[in-house]
Amino acid sequence: MGVRALQAALAVVAALAFVAGLVWVGRAWNDSRVPARYDATARGPVDLGGGAPLHHHDHGAPGGGVSVAALRGRGTPDVRFTLTAGHATVRLPSGQTVDGLAFDGRIPGPELRVRQGDLVEVTLVNRDVREGVSIHWHGVDLPNGEDGVAGMTQDAVPVGGRFTYRFLAEDAGTYWYHSHQHSADEVRRGLFGALVVEPREPSPGEDVVVAAHTFGGTHALLPSGGRMHRRVAPGTPVRLRLLNADDHVHEFGLGGTSFRVVAIDGRELEAPAALRAQALAVPAGGRYDIAFAMPRLPVTLAAKGSSDRISFGRGNATVDLSRQLDLTSYRARAPAVPTRFDRTFRIEIGRKLGFFHGGVKLGRQWSINGKIHPHMPMLVVAEGEVDRIVYVNRSGSPHPMHLHGHHMLVLARNGTPVRTPWLVDSLDVRPGERWDVALRTDNPGIWMLHCHNLPHAAKGLVTHLAYEGVHTPYRMGSASGNEPE
Ligand code: C2O
Ligand code: CU
Repeated sequence: MGVRALQAALAVVAALAFVAGLVWVGRAWNDSRVPARYDATARGPVDLGGGAPLHHHDHGAPGGGVSVAALRGRGTPDVRFTLTAGHATVRLPSGQTVDGLAFDGRIPGPELRVRQGDLVEVTLVNRDVREGVSIHWHGVDLPNGEDGVAGMTQDAVPVGGRFTYRFLAEDAGTYWYHSHQHSADEVRRGLFGALVVEPREPSPGEDVVVAAHTFGGTHALLPSGGRMHRRVAPGTPVRLRLLNADDHVHEFGLGGTSFRVVAIDGRELEAPAALRAQALAVPAGGRYDIAFAMPRLPVTLAAKGSSDRISFGRGNATVDLSRQLDLTSYRARAPAVPTRFDRTFRIEIGRKLGFFHGGVKLGRQWSINGKIHPHMPMLVVAEGEVDRIVYVNRSGSPHPMHLHGHHMLVLARNGTPVRTPWLVDSLDVRPGERWDVALRTDNPGIWMLHCHNLPHAAKGLVTHLAYEGVHTPYRMGSASGNEPE
C-alpha cells in the first residue's frame, strides 16, 4: 500500500470512528430522555436479586394487584396536627436571617411529639409553595400510601391544596419529616421538622432534639442553636436526639460527661457501652439518641464545623472531636442475625459518562450497577422474605443511603461481619466501602431507596424497592407536576 492509500484508509477509519462516536452520543442522549409523564416503576430493568421469579409485574394492570393509593393508614386519630407550608423569613438562634420555606413559619417546623401507640393524623396545607409540597415521614415504617413521595405515593399538594396523613406511631424513637417534592431544594430551604415518638412509659428528665442543618454555608444546631444554655439539676437524666437534616455527615461530640448511644434511627440499642470523648458521625438523614445523667459540672454538645454550642449547667465544657466511635463493635450484646437470604441485591454506585434526563451536558453521571437514572434497576421482592442488600461505593464520594418504609440490619463492612449489628434507615456508604444489610419484607408498597445527599438524588441516585403486584397510579415527569427529588 502506498502512502496515499494508507492516508486514505486512515481518513476513512477516523471518519468511521467519528460517526460511531456521534451515534453513541446520540443514542446515549436519546436514552437519557424521560417522558413528560411516566410511571417511575416502569422505566428500568427489574432486579430479582437472584431469587425466585415473581408472578406478575404488569404495572397498573386494571384488576391486578394493589394500588399504593389503597395502602393507607386507618382508624380514629388520637392526635391531630396541621402543618402549613409557605414562604417565610426566619431568624435563626445565631441571629442569621433566612429567606426560606417553612412549616408553620418556623425552621425547623414544629416539633411533633406523640406517644407510642398513637394513631397520628397530620394535615398538610400548602399556602404558597408554587412547586408543590408533600411530607415524607423519614424513618417511620408506615403504610406505603402515607409515605409522602410525590409521583410515587401521592400527587404533590398544589398551592391551596391539602393532604391528610394517618399512621400508627408504633415504635418509640426519633424521626423527622420533610417535603419529598423538589426535596433537594425544599429541604435545604427549611421544609423539615422533628417527629418524636415518646415511649408508652414516659421517662423522666430532659429530652431535647438537636437538628443540624446548613443555611448559606453556616452549620446550625437547631432549634435552640447559637449558644444555648439550659439549667439542669445534677443527677437529672438527659436524652439528646441528634438529627442530621443536611446533605452530608455531621460529627457530633459531647464534652463534660460520659454518655451512651441509646438509639439509632428510631431503634433502641441493646446494652450500649459508656463513651467519653468520642465523636458520633451521624449520616445525612440519620438520628442518634444519646443519654447521660447530668453531672455537677457543665456538659456541652458541639458539631464539627459549627460554632453553635448547646450547654447544660453553668458554663461550657470542652468538646473533643478527634476520635470517632466505631459502631461495628460498640455494644456488649448483639441480636442474632439472619444468615440465609431469599434474595441478594447488589447496589454498586459509580459514575458513568452520559447524559441526564435529556439534558445537553455530557458528563459523569451517578450510576447504579452501570445504569444512569431512569434506567436504574428496580429491586423487586415478595412479602415475607428476608433479603440482603450489598452496597458498594465506587464513585469517590460518600452516599448516605436511605430506604423508605423499612429498617435495615447492618451485617458486614467490607466483607467482615460487624460484631454488634444495628438497625438503620440511613446508612453512610463511604468511598471504597462495601456494606451488607438485611431486611425483612413486611411492608408492601413501592419504596424509594436513594442517596440522602439530596442533590445527588436530584441527579438520579435513586431507585426503588417494589413489592410484586403493587402498582402506582401516580406519575412523574414535567407534565405531571411531580418531581420528588
Ligand atoms: Cu428523608 Cu426519600 O427521604
Ligand atoms: Cu450520594
